[in-house]
Amino acid sequence: MRKDTWNPQQYHKFLNERSLPFFDLMDMIDSKSSLRRVVDLGCGAGDLTEVLHQKVHAQETWGFDTSEAMLEKAQKLSSEGLHFAKESIENIRQHGKFDLIFSNAALQWCENHPKLFHDLKDSLQPQGQLAVQMPMNHDYATHLLAVRMSEENHWKNLLQGNSYRQHLTMLPPEGYATLLFKLGFKEQKVLQRIYAHVMTSREDVISWVQGSLLTYFQSQLSPEDFATFLTEYRESLFQELPDDKPFFYPFKRILIWARL
Ligand SMILES: C[S@@+](CC[C@H](N)C(=O)[O-])C[C@H]1O[C@@H](n2cnc3c(N)ncnc32)[C@H](O)[C@@H]1O
Repeated sequence: MRKDTWNPQQYHKFLNERSLPFFDLMDMIDSKSSLRRVVDLGCGAGDLTEVLHQKVHAQETWGFDTSEAMLEKAQKLSSEGLHFAKESIENIRQHGKFDLIFSNAALQWCENHPKLFHDLKDSLQPQGQLAVQMPMNHDYATHLLAVRMSEENHWKNLLQGNSYRQHLTMLPPEGYATLLFKLGFKEQKVLQRIYAHVMTSREDVISWVQGSLLTYFQSQLSPEDFATFLTEYRESLFQELPDDKPFFYPFKRILIWARL
């Protein structure tokens, strides 16, 4: 199990930008059908889970996450019908059936998506809905550099061979569409969207990835090694990103909605 390096403050530095895809995903749900039992997988600090709970008028919404730091914030939002628990996404099948399985920016951390989506389908009621959003910026400099560094001998040794593999986990958009069809979903929408983020400077890009992809390296390395990694990462990234002010940060994401 990875160390808990999620930090709600760091993650929420770009709350507006990070929330946009959540609202796009929520808009894809058919909230006119009865959604009594809902789960938000990788719910983070729970603020968006609460928005979802209210929007779909769920009787019971669960937010599952494995980060203590995130859950500590989320628990403060618990109310009648809205619950948070320390649970990993992969254990979904132990929690009965849901009318809606929702996940914003979390499933990319899980391996074996064909198996995972199979388990998600098995955890849905008949006519149940699945709504998933994941970042898909694997061909952007931030991710390419992370993969490259994780495969360099020095870092590979310190990472004990655990290279950064998110790009290997995820399927192409048409792969998800085909998987949903094969799993028996009768309706689906699979979209790719590029979110146009205008940052003050490229320093913001470093700050952005510190709240997301670099948490992986932070969880695997000692604090001293992570500090060195960050310095090297920043220097190399700045050789690739222009010193523009404002800095345009295009961010590709996949939005998936399907109904059984
Ligand atoms: C990028 S944050 C997204 C949080 C929230 N969904 C949002 O949109 O603000 C990803 C969250 O997924 C959680 N996470 C990652 N892998 C997980 C797993 N296997 N099981 C449960 N939670 C996981 C992390 O702890 C983190 O809180």
